[in-house]
Amino acid sequence: MHAEYGGVVPELASRDHIRKLLPLVDQVRREAGDPLLTGIAYTRGPGLMGALLVGASLAAGLGMSLSLPVLGVHHMEGHLLSPLLEEAAPEFPYIALLVSGGHTLLVRVDGVGRYRVLGASLDDAVGEAFDKSAKMLGLGYPGGPALAALAAQGNPAAHAFPRPMLKRPGLDFSFSGLKTAVMLAVKAAPHSPAAQADIAASFQQAVVDTLVNKCLRALRGEGVRRLVVAGGVGANQALRGGLAEAGQAHGFETFFPRQAFCTDNAAMIALAGYLRRDEMRPGIASAEAAARWSLDSLRPPTTADVVG
Ligand code: KG4
Ligand code: ZN
Repeated sequence: MHAEYGGVVPELASRDHIRKLLPLVDQVRREAGDPLLTGIAYTRGPGLMGALLVGASLAAGLGMSLSLPVLGVHHMEGHLLSPLLEEAAPEFPYIALLVSGGHTLLVRVDGVGRYRVLGASLDDAVGEAFDKSAKMLGLGYPGGPALAALAAQGNPAAHAFPRPMLKRPGLDFSFSGLKTAVMLAVKAAPHSPAAQADIAASFQQAVVDTLVNKCLRALRGEGVRRLVVAGGVGANQALRGGLAEAGQAHGFETFFPRQAFCTDNAAMIALAGYLRRDEMRPGIASAEAAARWSLDSLRPPTTADVVG
């Protein structure tokens, strides 16, 4: 639906949410054998207000009709805690590299609700850089996975693209310079599949090198030996390979939640809601959404058994 426009159209997204959300919830409950529900967690923010309001309204309505308490969860907290959904879950503290279409963040996680943002992108998010580069290469939307597939056919050393901000200290990221370099390379290259694949591979390598380097810096600076990767770009195999290799070379553990837990998913929101279950309130009090909501403002849950 959005591919036609080359990006998410907020109004189309929220209207589609209205059509699909309740049937989807019914289907999931049926497939799960109508489990006993003890509360409802929904995404309160940050994000697009229209889509958030659809979820908030449904959560509040379900809470009232089923007499269940409701809690609005921070989308990024869901991503940060998603590795805990896996059998081999990391212990605290860990450094999380959160890479999605909207965010590029390095966060120190000391426990549930104990987050410190160490670095962030000053311009485009990594996923956005993937999507925009894919668009320049004539691939569809969202272009990340298509670009990664094309990159597998190319030579990552074909173009010496910039490794943004590596020479500067600190943990922030910037991807606009790399994007420009890709644009110039696309204009100069012949329109052959091999030339396109070389650009894709070189772009991906520049991104991987940059992310690996910043993760190493964060782990060293914080004296932490566990790294978690979350968010849609965390599904990227070259990134996973680069980080796993660095982990072996530099002696830190790496945790990669399975792809379904890396991209946006409801399981991570349910988990965050469960870990904060003592904060759940009757539905009527909870139908709210927040387009902007800082991760640093979150606090540990009141539930004693899950703190830190
Ligand atoms: O976390 P996510 O599912 O949604 C949000 O942005 O919140 O991330 C989506 C982003 C898109 O930019 C998409 O192109 C990118 O993740 N992505 C990938 C891959 N799979 C998804 N980027 C690079 N390689 C992939 N394999
Ligand atoms: Zn997300």
